[in-house]
Amino acid sequence: MDRRDLLTIGEVARRSGLAPSALRYYEARGLITSTRTAGDRRRYARAVLRRVAVIRAAQRVGLTLDDVGAAFADVPAEAAPTRVQWARMSARWRPVIDQRIADLEKVRAELDGCIGCGCLSLQRCRLYNPDDVLADEGSGSRRLFPDVPDVPDVSDEQP
Ligand code: FES
Repeated sequence: MDRRDLLTIGEVARRSGLAPSALRYYEARGLITSTRTAGDRRRYARAVLRRVAVIRAAQRVGLTLDDVGAAFADVPAEAAPTRVQWARMSARWRPVIDQRIADLEKVRAELDGCIGCGCLSLQRCRLYNPDDVLADEGSGSRRLFPDVPDVPDVSDEQP
């Protein structure tokens, strides 16, 4: 590749509208790659602009960088996705986006019940305490943060 075809990080930043720090982050995540000059300066192939466009489009619809990384798995590191690869990626993302929309619609419906309320009741508010994992244990049994594991009951232990 002719070195004049390579872009500096500043040029990629200017053309993509992203901060150089974001480009370095994408590179650290393996989503884009660069070569280095003798002076250790980054140089990007022009295809990086299309890769960055795909990353930004994915983020815009709420996908994670892990989602993008998985989608880029079958795209050579210095290449932009082909039309066929992009079509495959976007088709794979469609159900993920549909699920996000369904989740947000559920949150919106729960939020409707909170408008003008402000109680933040652990018993009544589905938005405040959506995963009432202890509900089967009777009234008042709620866990606000379901990812926190059970604390062992040590009350019967001998000293
Ligand atoms: S704040 Fe009262 S129901 Fe959500």
